[in-house]
Amino acid sequence: MSDLDLSVLAKASRLFEALDPEGRKELLARAGRQKFPAGHVLCREGESGDVLYVLAKGQARVSVDDLGTDKEVGQLTAGQLFGEQAMLSGSKRQATVTALTELEVVSFPRAAVDAVLAKNPSARSVLAQVGLSRSEASMQKLME
Ligand code: CMP
Repeated sequence: MSDLDLSVLAKASRLFEALDPEGRKELLARAGRQKFPAGHVLCREGESGDVLYVLAKGQARVSVDDLGTDKEVGQLTAGQLFGEQAMLSGSKRQATVTALTELEVVSFPRAAVDAVLAKNPSARSVLAQVGLSRSEASMQKLME
């Protein structure tokens, strides 16, 4: 892991703080790094998702379908994680995440996340809280 990775992951600290050192090490060992150009869709609402992401660089737009119209419900910036909703529930992506700028992401495959969360229930709660507050924020936006 480079210094950049570590500083990025430190920003996503709520999740990583909740892991024991072994869990942190295991997750980082199985992390991938990717770059995506502006306009790239990382998660599409309604599709299944097996990757949890931490945004290392750049900015992304989060949108949901509102009766046929694509409605922005939030934005993501460096240090924030996303993709936790499909990861935790095993269901479909709840929103579409599109790169607004070139992005660098750290990605964690389901097998690694599941293995680590099974041993770190408090980290699962942290992710669940993030997911819940986002669902509420999206509902709020849709009602505006
Ligand atoms: P998931 O449903 O797996 O894939 C889309 C992701 O967008 C979702 O997980 C959350 O990580 C993220 N997301 C959903 N709603 C919001 C929101 N209102 N603000 C920021 N991020 C969101």
